[in-house]
Amino acid sequence: MRRVVCPGSFDPVTNGHIDIIGRAARQYDEVIAAVLGNVSKRALFSVDEKLEMLDECTRAFTNVRTAKFDGLLVDFCRENDIGTIIRSLRSVSDFDYELQIAQMNYQLSGVETMFMTANPQYSFLSSSLVKEVAQHGGDVSSLVPPYVEQRLREKYKE
Ligand code: PNS
Repeated sequence: MRRVVCPGSFDPVTNGHIDIIGRAARQYDEVIAAVLGNVSKRALFSVDEKLEMLDECTRAFTNVRTAKFDGLLVDFCRENDIGTIIRSLRSVSDFDYELQIAQMNYQLSGVETMFMTANPQYSFLSSSLVKEVAQHGGDVSSLVPPYVEQRLREKYKE
């Protein structure tokens, strides 16, 4: 069983995340999309809201399940018998950051990190930008799944 994790903050999940999760699901037997719980940066959505959106938006993939984790990603990997972390690279600046994290994770545990290049269609896309556009009433329908678009609309109405 080749089980991998697609970890992230997912605040909220975007079409870019879904693209990577779906492509990973074609390459591996099981994909766990895992939301980080103890985020230090201020999040718009609670962990449970993020998990619920991720759940809803990955329902079509039969070999994807979702989870939340706290603490170190490598501990979550060990507890769930995961040998590989999947991360997306949109740009060289992503690579600079991700390389350090991947090397640290490998040093800590031997868990491998496999990088997938972002779909060029989504190389500009980030959860932060989606929130900024949505906050000011911009159209995010091509950037996030319809369910997330709806949740953003509700959130900014609150
Ligand atoms: O969506 P993001 O914010 O780019 O995801 C970052 C994430 C959650 C993958 C990363 O911050 C993470 O793994 N955090 C858990 C703590 C950890 O294990 N850090 C790496 C070793 S220092």
